Amino acid sequence: MQTNYIIRGFGHYAPERVLTNADLEKIVDTTDEWITSRTGIKQRHIVAEGESASDMAAQAARQALAEAGMEPAELTHIVVATFTPDSMIPSTACVLQSKLGISGQMCVDVSAACSGFLYALQTARGYLALEPEAKVLVVAAEVISRRTNWDDRATCVLFGDAAGAVVLTGGGEDERPRLLDMMLAADGSLGDLLTVHGGGSAYAYKMGEPVGPEYFVQMQGRETFKHAVRNMTSICEALLERHGVGKSEIDVLLPHQANWRIIDAVGRKFEIPPEKVFANIDRYANTSAASIPVALSEAVKTGFIKPGDLVLLTSFGGGFTWGSALVRF
Ligand code: UT7
Repeated sequence: MQTNYIIRGFGHYAPERVLTNADLEKIVDTTDEWITSRTGIKQRHIVAEGESASDMAAQAARQALAEAGMEPAELTHIVVATFTPDSMIPSTACVLQSKLGISGQMCVDVSAACSGFLYALQTARGYLALEPEAKVLVVAAEVISRRTNWDDRATCVLFGDAAGAVVLTGGGEDERPRLLDMMLAADGSLGDLLTVHGGGSAYAYKMGEPVGPEYFVQMQGRETFKHAVRNMTSICEALLERHGVGKSEIDVLLPHQANWRIIDAVGRKFEIPPEKVFANIDRYANTSAASIPVALSEAVKTGFIKPGDLVLLTSFGGGFTWGSALVRF
């Protein structure tokens, strides 16, 4: 069985168009001061007309493949994490495969909201455990701007569009970056605190009916905040304990980018100084599943993460779902 999981390349993409807090002040009753102080967000990227999750996924995937020195045709599996797929059928993974000009690979979408990337990575590990020669493209892509209620100031200021990708394969003991271990969890009883119900089969709708607020992200922010801090902290503690790693051994904390105050709170719990905590929420806002792979790709490319670093990843999202992972660079 394969036990070495090597990340061969990182890629990320964000649409050209930028929506600043000042732009939002013209759309809803909000201020740059409120958004910055409550979330740390200064701007977000928004897709162009006609641009889709799979378009962004393809950009991020090509970058990750190029970094890995691999051709798309070498892939055996494509896993896409998204809660904003291009369509219900076909899956965004299938659309992405076609856009990469390849066919034959197993393609599947994973739905775990903001924890989607870590869930997809764990799925990829499973494929590798079954097929040691597998070469798995793991992408997260979100077009949250099309699932945003632009009349709801409590949510519309929080999100952005982006995609991130990695290629996961087997490898030798000494190869890096190596995905050492992961833990994932969920609590479906809290699902109603963060939802996009519209379009789902439990919520009947008929042709010609108007689209209501239930088609867009709805969140009880305060409650979600508390669960996010609590669960990210506990699953990181559990992973470190299982792996026999002390807090002081972590070189970089790279959490899901939902709110600077959440990132900061998790960093404090682990006594990790702010300069070792990666954050790009100011420039991207919350890009849900895409936030961790975008942050990873940026952190690697800018040298924030250095060879030899032990990096702790953690996520929290709708479902509720949450997770943690350890990567040795
Ligand atoms: O990625 C998946 C997981 N997501 C998260 O983890 C997000 C978790 N939640 C949060 O990050 C925060 O709860 C928010 C940023 C969403 C909200 O911050 P908060 O400090 O919890 O604010 P709040 O929702 O309790 O609202 C405080 C006040 C309210 O006014 P009153 O009732 O005190 O008069 C809101 O109406 O702020 C008001 N408010 C706003 N004011 C200006 C809410 N949104 C805005 C806004 N601009 N955009």
